[in-house]
Amino acid sequence: MSFESLKNARVLVTGGAGFIGNNLVRKLLQCEVSQIVVLDNQSSGMAVFLPNDVRITFVGMDIDRYDKLNFVINQHEFDYVFHLAAHFANQNSVDHPFSDIQTNIVGTVSLLEILKFHKSLKKFVYASSSCVYGTTENMNEEAYIYPSETPYSINKYTAELYTQYYAHLFHVPTLSIRIFNTYGPYELAGKYRNVIPNFIEKAINGEELSITGTGKETRDFTYVEDLIELMLLGACSDHHEGEIFNGGTGAKTEILKMAEIIKAHTESVSQITFKPARNWDKVKDRMSDTSKSAKALGYAPKTSIEEGLQKTIKWYKENYDKVKSLKNYFE
Ligand SMILES: NC(=O)c1ccc[n+]([C@@H]2O[C@H](COP(=O)([O-])OP(=O)(O)OC[C@H]3O[C@@H](n4cnc5c(N)ncnc54)[C@H](O)[C@@H]3O)[C@@H](O)[C@H]2O)c1
Repeated sequence: MSFESLKNARVLVTGGAGFIGNNLVRKLLQCEVSQIVVLDNQSSGMAVFLPNDVRITFVGMDIDRYDKLNFVINQHEFDYVFHLAAHFANQNSVDHPFSDIQTNIVGTVSLLEILKFHKSLKKFVYASSSCVYGTTENMNEEAYIYPSETPYSINKYTAELYTQYYAHLFHVPTLSIRIFNTYGPYELAGKYRNVIPNFIEKAINGEELSITGTGKETRDFTYVEDLIELMLLGACSDHHEGEIFNGGTGAKTEILKMAEIIKAHTESVSQITFKPARNWDKVKDRMSDTSKSAKALGYAPKTSIEEGLQKTIKWYKENYDKVKSLKNYFE
């Protein structure tokens, strides 16, 4: 897929040093953008992984510092903003609810308050989360939702509402992508990280793979390249009034099966064990309805869970020395 309108574009990626941000920045460079400003406080991402390219400028700062943010953004005229900076994720928000509000709400509103005066802006893409569906089984964008399981789910949803408010009242051209469990290169293991990088690292080291729950729970694991494709389709589309689009693949995988695939591809001797689910984790099955994204944006995820895990494990093994030297960085 070529994204012609990104050619020579000036782009801001908040949270660009993080897992998804890093993958997005690499794809934007391939799309021949002229400039990328990465704004990140490196609390859960690392600029050290960003590619070496003169078009990238790294700005290390907290997104909720309105005055400094205003100063930084007003030095540029951005065509596209991808807002990925976030306090990640559910358990972290349970442990640190105030930081979650600061980054996920105050940070998002600060950014939108400043951008409402930037008439050059073609699109503001907000990285929302499937957790906004809460316990709703129907994971369709039109479903009535009432997320209240964790501060993260409440705040990611609230930020979505703000993107709609700024679109409707100030004509900031926004849309949101509800991201389902995404995995791939550049995501390191860590206390608050997703299950896949944690299992890969443990499997490589022959440590126990401890599943929270019965293992029969399912998730819509999405390879990061497919998600990035959706974000760019959204950015280059005519949708600009706060519309919501589901990420995901429309397929579900049992957690136990995912663990077994990781074990097989790492040729690991790790034992798979089980412990009780976390008290906020009430969703047994999570699968995206991707029909709206397919119809309105032409989204067609291509990567199966086997293929995506193989690619991720390959990256992890090839970069293991670097990954190991950074271990415990975020703990
Ligand atoms: N990875 C997933 O499965 C997933 C699922 C649903 C939603 N999302 C959303 O996608 C986005 C990217 O997620 P990710 O997996 O790349 O996470 P990540 O933690 O790797 O990236 C987030 C980045 O934001 C930065 N950041 C955090 N607080 C900040 C602050 N106050 N100021 C500036 N920078 C700050 C971090 O340092 C990090 O680099 C997030 O908005 C997240 O909520 C991700």
